[in-house]
Amino acid sequence: MAFAEAPPLTRHLSIKDLKGMPLPRAVLMCAPDYFDVVDVKNPFMANQLGRVDIPLALKQWQDLTHVLESVGIEVQLIPPLPNCEDMVFCANPIFAGLDGENRRAVVLSQMRYGSRQPEVVAHAAWFEGHGYRVIPIGEPGCLFEGSGDALWHPGRRLIWGGYGHRTSKEIYRKISEIFDAPVMLLELPTEWFYHLDTCLGLLDENTALVYPPALTGAGMDLIRSLIPCVIEVDAEEATQAMACNAAAFSGKYVVSQRGAPRVGRKLRERGFHVIEVETSEFMKSGGSVFCMKMYLF
Ligand code: ARG
Repeated sequence: MAFAEAPPLTRHLSIKDLKGMPLPRAVLMCAPDYFDVVDVKNPFMANQLGRVDIPLALKQWQDLTHVLESVGIEVQLIPPLPNCEDMVFCANPIFAGLDGENRRAVVLSQMRYGSRQPEVVAHAAWFEGHGYRVIPIGEPGCLFEGSGDALWHPGRRLIWGGYGHRTSKEIYRKISEIFDAPVMLLELPTEWFYHLDTCLGLLDENTALVYPPALTGAGMDLIRSLIPCVIEVDAEEATQAMACNAAAFSGKYVVSQRGAPRVGRKLRERGFHVIEVETSEFMKSGGSVFCMKMYLF
C-alpha cells in the first residue's frame, strides 16, 4: 500500500510494522544574511514588508544554531545567496532521506514562487558535493516544496505528504517510489497553514502535535489511526507561536518558539525536554524552527 488518504486503507497498518529509519544526525541551515520580507507569499507576510529587524534575525538564528548544537546535533551550513531572501527556510528546496537501499538521496523541489527556485539550484549543488544522489522531481506543471510538506515519520519508513498550496498531490507517487515508503496524504484546506509543517509536528514514533482545523476530517482520521498520542494545539498557540512548527531531536528534545505554554506543559508531562527559542523575525515570513533547518540522515 503506497498511498492512503483515509483510514480504511490503514486499518491493518500499525507504525510498529513499518521498516525502521534512523533519526536525523545533523541539520543543514542557511544564515539569514539576505533574509527579509519583500513580498507576500503567505498570510503571515502581509503587512510585514520592510519590518524585519535584521540584526535581531541574525541573533535569533545564531541562538538557534547554538541550541541545536547543545542537544548534540551537528549543524552544517549552505552559503546564503543574495536576492534569496527566503533561503534561511532550508526545509523547502529539497526533501532528503535514505532511499530503498539506504543510500542518501534528495529530491529537488519545484517551488511555487519563481523567486525561490535559485535556492533549489544551490541546494542541488551542495547535496551533490556531499555525496547525495540528487533527483529532480521531474513532474512538469506540478509543485513540490520539500520538507515543508513531506515529513518523515520519526524512526520509521513512512512519509506524511501535505498538499494543496505549495505541493501537488501527484508528486507523492514518485516520492514513495524513490524512498520506498508509503505516503499518507494530507490535504491542507486553509490559507494560514499552507505547509504541512505549520500544522503537524511529528515528535517521536508515537507522538505528534496537530492543529486539527488546518486539516480535513479524513486527514485527522488518518493521523489518529496511526499515531497513538495526538496532542491537539489550540488556535492561539498554533498561530501566534507556530507551535506545530517545533523540531524534535533524538526522540527527546523539542525545540520550539516560545509562547506556547499549554503545548509545553503537555510535552513535559510526556517526558520531552522542551527548549524554547525566539524566532519572531522569521515568523514575520511565515516560518519558525522546523522550517529553518533540513534534517540530514
Ligand atoms: N516566506 C517563506 C515562504 O512563504 C516561508 C517558508 C516557510 N517554510 C515552511 N516550511 N513552513 O515560502
